[in-house]
Amino acid sequence: MSTPLTFDGRVVLVTGAGGGLGREYALAFGQRGASVIVNDLGGDIKGGGKSSAAADKVVEEIRAKGGKAVASYDSVEDGEKLIQTALDAFGRIDIVVNNAGILRDRSFARTSDVDWDLIHRVHLRGSFLVSRAAWNHMKNQKFGRIIMTSSAAGIYGNFGQANYSAAKLGLLGLSNTLAIEGQKYNIHCNTIAPTAGSRLTETVMPPDLLQSLRAEYVAPLVLWLCHEACPENGGLFEVGAGWIGKLRWERSLGRIVRQKNQSMTPEAVRDAWSEICDFTDASKPSSIQESLQTLVEVLSRVEDERGIRSNPTAASSGTNPSSAVGQTMPEMVFSYTHMNCILYALGVGMSTREPEHLRFLYEGQQDFSALPTFGVIPALSAMTGLSSIPGLDIDFTRLLHGEQYLELFGALPTSGTLRSRAVVADVLDKGSGMVILLDVHTYSERELVCYNQFSLFIVGAGGFGGKRTSQKAVATAPRPDRAPDAVIVEQTSRDQAALYRLSGDWNPLHIDPSFAAMGGFESPILHGLCSFGFAARHVLKKYAANDVSRFKAIKVRFVKPVYPGQSLQTEMWKEGNRIHIQCKVKESGDVVLSGAYIDLQTDVCVSAGSPQSLDLQSDLVFSEIARRIRDGGQELVKKVNAVFGWEISKDGRTVREWTINLKTDGGSVHRGVSKADVIFSVSDEDFMEVVKGKLNPQQAFFSGKLKVKGNIMLSQKLEAVLKDYAKL
Ligand code: NAI
Repeated sequence: MSTPLTFDGRVVLVTGAGGGLGREYALAFGQRGASVIVNDLGGDIKGGGKSSAAADKVVEEIRAKGGKAVASYDSVEDGEKLIQTALDAFGRIDIVVNNAGILRDRSFARTSDVDWDLIHRVHLRGSFLVSRAAWNHMKNQKFGRIIMTSSAAGIYGNFGQANYSAAKLGLLGLSNTLAIEGQKYNIHCNTIAPTAGSRLTETVMPPDLLQSLRAEYVAPLVLWLCHEACPENGGLFEVGAGWIGKLRWERSLGRIVRQKNQSMTPEAVRDAWSEICDFTDASKPSSIQESLQTLVEVLSRVEDERGIRSNPTAASSGTNPSSAVGQTMPEMVFSYTHMNCILYALGVGMSTREPEHLRFLYEGQQDFSALPTFGVIPALSAMTGLSSIPGLDIDFTRLLHGEQYLELFGALPTSGTLRSRAVVADVLDKGSGMVILLDVHTYSERELVCYNQFSLFIVGAGGFGGKRTSQKAVATAPRPDRAPDAVIVEQTSRDQAALYRLSGDWNPLHIDPSFAAMGGFESPILHGLCSFGFAARHVLKKYAANDVSRFKAIKVRFVKPVYPGQSLQTEMWKEGNRIHIQCKVKESGDVVLSGAYIDLQTDVCVSAGSPQSLDLQSDLVFSEIARRIRDGGQELVKKVNAVFGWEISKDGRTVREWTINLKTDGGSVHRGVSKADVIFSVSDEDFMEVVKGKLNPQQAFFSGKLKVKGNIMLSQKLEAVLKDYAKL
């Protein structure tokens, strides 16, 4: 076993050690041989009053265990006195743990001068005064360890804690500089942002959590950072529940927005905004020297007129595809009737030959529906809209539709007006060509109906020095390595492309023989999105009994062309709710769609009879939340800025999924879970208990009734949603 960490001969001052975290540190140091000054003013949580009882009690506890300790009852605002107590009692000072603290929480508008000043005096000025009083002693003895106590509220901000956040992050700045000035004297200064149950947190945490997050799960980090063997200096750590993590700065590659001998404009800043904020290839600067070095480099780049991106690989050619990222197109409006839905269904091969196709072909049918893949149609014009994007000089004769992703958030209306917003999500340099990722969100009123991602390949447009991959790309998925679980073969008609184009893709490549010949094809080819529609139909038929509400998402890569009249062979593999697909031309064996899959919603019908028989109380709540968000969710979006996923279970099985999206404009609620920051799994009954306020979400979590995946801290924001938006 390694040597235990001891503090024999070391003198430690812990401020605010009469309770909470400070007490735990003092006891731990005392137990490991240090002489401890237990400082505490003994006032109330807001900084009022004083008493010697708190410090005395801890001193007694240390002594009772055979340790050495003295009490100090002064406020940290009298820093010199605290250090004098150490010198008087033990003749030196080695370690200072700045821990004393109070709270005066108020919303910013209501923060008074006193609220601001008191917090700064105790936290920031107090730590400064105590540390300064110890500094020369540490310097002379060439040893010192200082801890600053910051807070997640300072690092991330927290509602109602403007005064506290400012002071707490001020401590990090102080620590950063002390670490630099103290280095050559072996004085190390580190900062912690702890989370523990204490009197400061008892008003904001439920009792269970308060008890679980013990102060003894923080103290070991403080002891290690203060030990002579610890080389850490200038670090910042989050600590709590037995976990410790280190934080550091990350800086985007950024973008130079100025050119030699030209003035710098706010428009240039606006136009480069997405690159300025893009963290791909980010650096992690750790000193002011590194920061300055960047600026010096930028000055010389501008002088030499070397490119406009501070990325050394960036091109300086006339076109700058990377600058297109983040550009949006004018809103696309698509008004349609049932006729468009029927025409589309015919276009992707539906026929009255099959009786169950009638629900897609006859508007008089009771369950008349639009095919899920009809969701690409309102977004189609985004492809041609690319010509309006500055920085992209596209030769459309070289454009290939590489991949397509479509996700639905509810059933598509069979008529109405849909509005789509398209944005260039990313531009990639594949060497032989350029890939443009185009994200299109389609709305019916304020409700998000579907999301498309077009992946477009421009042959020969690569080599501009851009990145090769993007986190924004929805990936394809390799098919399982076994014989397919199911295969459907269907012949396309001679007029399939002629019919499909009527849904809105007018490219002559699909109808005009001479145009097709120019592109090197023997005759007009079928639209990739037509084969896509066939494959999706096959999966819906085989695995979802043609129930469109089961469809969640589809992703395909277009590999080779299909000629109208050829037969499409869809091979399917079922892996849970994901159906992998590969589509071939039967006659040639050529693979035409690869890496493809369809995600289905959980099979509610099979598990619990018909959807109607599934009587979920939570459905009502989600509809109500949806209604309220529709009527004014902007406020909530600002406040919450997160996407919550829900998995609702009944009798131990997930039967419903919902997403409450409070990130995109106006907010939305839809079926299925997608892009959630955090996912809650809960039974229908427990969900209702939580909504009715009978079950506290934290309690539900600790008792295992509520499971949380993803960013657990966001659960704190749940209350804002459930409290004001879920009242039935
Ligand atoms: P606590 O209230 O139990 O301990 C703070 C102690 O500081 C009290 O005993 C108080 O009497 C003493 N104190 C207040 N003003 C003083 C002054 N002017 N001079 C001397 N002593 C004074 O609270 P807790 O939670 O143990 O907090 C310790 C430190 O950790 C504080 O700086 C707090 O801001 C920080 N912190 C705590 C978190 C937590 O989850 N408990 C979260 C983030 C930061």
